[in-house]
Amino acid sequence: MRLSRPSSFYLASRDLFSGSLRTISGGQNIMRPKVLITRKVFDEAIAMLKQYFEVEDNQGDHPFPPDVLIQKLKDKMGAMILLTDRIDEDVLSHCPKLKMISIVAVGYNNIDVEACTRRRIMVTNTPGVLDDTTADFTWTLLLATARRLVEADQYIRSSQWEGWRLMEFLGYDVHHKILGICGLGRIGQRVARRAKGFDMKIYYTDVVRAVPSVEKELGGLFVDKKTLLSESDFITLHVPLGPQTTHYISTAEFAVMKPTAILINASRGPVVDEKALVQALGEGRIAGAGLDVYEREPEVELALIQMKNVVLAPHIASASHGTRGRMATMAAENLVAGLTGRLPPNLVNSEVFGSSPLRDG
Ligand code: DGY
Repeated sequence: MRLSRPSSFYLASRDLFSGSLRTISGGQNIMRPKVLITRKVFDEAIAMLKQYFEVEDNQGDHPFPPDVLIQKLKDKMGAMILLTDRIDEDVLSHCPKLKMISIVAVGYNNIDVEACTRRRIMVTNTPGVLDDTTADFTWTLLLATARRLVEADQYIRSSQWEGWRLMEFLGYDVHHKILGICGLGRIGQRVARRAKGFDMKIYYTDVVRAVPSVEKELGGLFVDKKTLLSESDFITLHVPLGPQTTHYISTAEFAVMKPTAILINASRGPVVDEKALVQALGEGRIAGAGLDVYEREPEVELALIQMKNVVLAPHIASASHGTRGRMATMAAENLVAGLTGRLPPNLVNSEVFGSSPLRDG
């Protein structure tokens, strides 16, 4: 997406900002909309926002406590946030000038979108750009867990390796096994595509069945949740977090899985009931888990930390140099578009734009 900088005349003449944007002298010096960047982001994104807005940014890289967030946000028209910032009714009620929240993430379960919509605040996210990177990392977790890579690495680093043994570090084959994908959206599809190289059979379950061309391309078999859980060797989660998917995997689900099954979660932590996971692993109901996300980040159940058949990552599935940079740029572009009266490319609550005085044309 290319953005052209709006002239001060354009901004001033449209008077889009409820009086907070005004020409001070001859159309040259204007009071620019104030925006907050809540956490450390790439310099390029900050520079882009500074072309249009008066920017306050937090380069300290720790989330603001809720009261500080409110304090910082209450005179701002827009905010670029991360998934560690909670935007709820309380925050919104203190920020009457807020017109837009742009999150640097595809998931936005930390934002009360309904409350934003009621207040006609636009919400945008960064879909698409991280699909391949997240799928790559899902596979990193899957292979590392199946083949016990982290455990083996620790073994060498702690000088325990005495030489080759036939029966040391036996893991699980991945090739020719069944991969069960819960949620065949953009990321789930990318994960499935990679499975073809491993000659795997693909099962998937979702709220809606994929179109025939996608099923054909991926060779995916649409099954119900129970069939997927009970027949898959690897189960990978790619559903968004919401009321329907909180604890999507809990005791009842673990009960039907194979004892050799491996669970992979690079979606959102609360999709898995962590206590039930600990119990299932502890009782040998499943063979292992590869996790990138947790119920109460950054807290991780001590029992999971102590288990050798669990591979843990600190929510880094999209963390490649290129992808995280592109996510930040995309979030900045969203914010610029929304606050200059154009339709933001990744608007989550489109009804706000339609009814807003910010509407273009
Ligand atoms: C997201 O974008 O939702 C990821 O969890 C972080 O990249």
